[in-house]
Amino acid sequence: MNEIRCAVIGLSGMGLAHAAAIRNNPNARLVAVCDIDPARRAQAAELGKDIRACGDYREILASEEVDAVVIVVPDQLHRQIAVAALEAGKHVLCEKPMALTIEDCRAMIAAARRSTGKFMVGQICRFTPGFLAAKRLIDAGEIGELFYVESEYAHDYEHILQPGSWRLDPLRHGFLGGGCHAVDLLRWIAGDPTEAAAFSNKKMLPISPTDDCMVAILKFPHDVIGKIFVSTGCKRSYTMRSAFYGSKGTIITDNTSPSMQVFKVDSSCGATVPMLYPVSISSHNAVGEIQTFVDCVRTDAPVPTDAWEGARTVCASLAAIRSSQSGVIEKIDYSVLEP
Ligand SMILES: NC(=O)c1ccc[n+]([C@@H]2O[C@H](COP(=O)([O-])OP(=O)(O)OC[C@H]3O[C@@H](n4cnc5c(N)ncnc54)[C@H](O)[C@@H]3O)[C@@H](O)[C@H]2O)c1
Repeated sequence: MNEIRCAVIGLSGMGLAHAAAIRNNPNARLVAVCDIDPARRAQAAELGKDIRACGDYREILASEEVDAVVIVVPDQLHRQIAVAALEAGKHVLCEKPMALTIEDCRAMIAAARRSTGKFMVGQICRFTPGFLAAKRLIDAGEIGELFYVESEYAHDYEHILQPGSWRLDPLRHGFLGGGCHAVDLLRWIAGDPTEAAAFSNKKMLPISPTDDCMVAILKFPHDVIGKIFVSTGCKRSYTMRSAFYGSKGTIITDNTSPSMQVFKVDSSCGATVPMLYPVSISSHNAVGEIQTFVDCVRTDAPVPTDAWEGARTVCASLAAIRSSQSGVIEKIDYSVLEP
């Protein structure tokens, strides 16, 4: 397949970032956009000539001019639109979290298995320069054997959680909605966690139907342990500070700083040497994500975050939330995802 003809459904800031990334990609063309809000739809004119704008996503799915859709609508709508798109034979890039419930994940996995289209979940941290650099060093054995990993999602939602927002759904717990970034990052680095123990509180966002601060301790394969901290009411700039501890060194990085700290044992003297590596700042690397999606579609290669992968991040996030509510250590059972 030569040029992939793409449509973006949902034209918020993130939707516009995807649209710009498609326009930036030499192997893709933005042919249509969709939003139920006429004001957002009107932005199509600024995105380029000959871009069809519509208010009903079913028009996009029925069009033979569209090969692939990028779904950037509220989380609660991911299942409905993704399943319909897959049934229409479209390739799908769906925003994170893949869904808010195990039942929705199961339906999406089943639809992805039945479809001729590819299905990728937009776990954008896998395209963040600092995290990519850390993953390469870890996979190359540069810090030895991992024993502890941690990540955080610190993002002040005070001005995002306005009355009427779709984010005020009790199913849209901050640990799943935004925290899934940190969960997915640690799963990517250390594998699927098997147990979660968590605590949470709500001291910052009275409007939130769920707790707004949570810390989860996780058990990963190969006797690695880890921690995820999520706060959606914190008073600081957005960041995802993360640390990876190994037998020969440590990496401390995030998605908002221009450098990554690496500590490595110098084998000649046994001393631990600190180093600072420059990394590009890109907390939302839509260009990299779209490039991978388009390349996978063009070359018929497997996508890095398929339905099963996206669903396991949801499953682990939900287990941690359950632990914060039940007060017991929760086993993480991925078999519940089997359709
Ligand atoms: N990857 C990231 O880092 C990141 C960042 C922000 C948001 N997101 C995800 O992107 C998605 C959208 O979040 P947002 O913050 O942009 O939300 P938003 O509310 O700002 O925008 C959603 C857009 O979807 C439109 N919409 C709603 N229902 C629709 C429908 N049926 N058909 C077409 N358009 C419809 C709305 O009018 C709105 O323009 C969510 O899944 C969110 O979790 C991901």
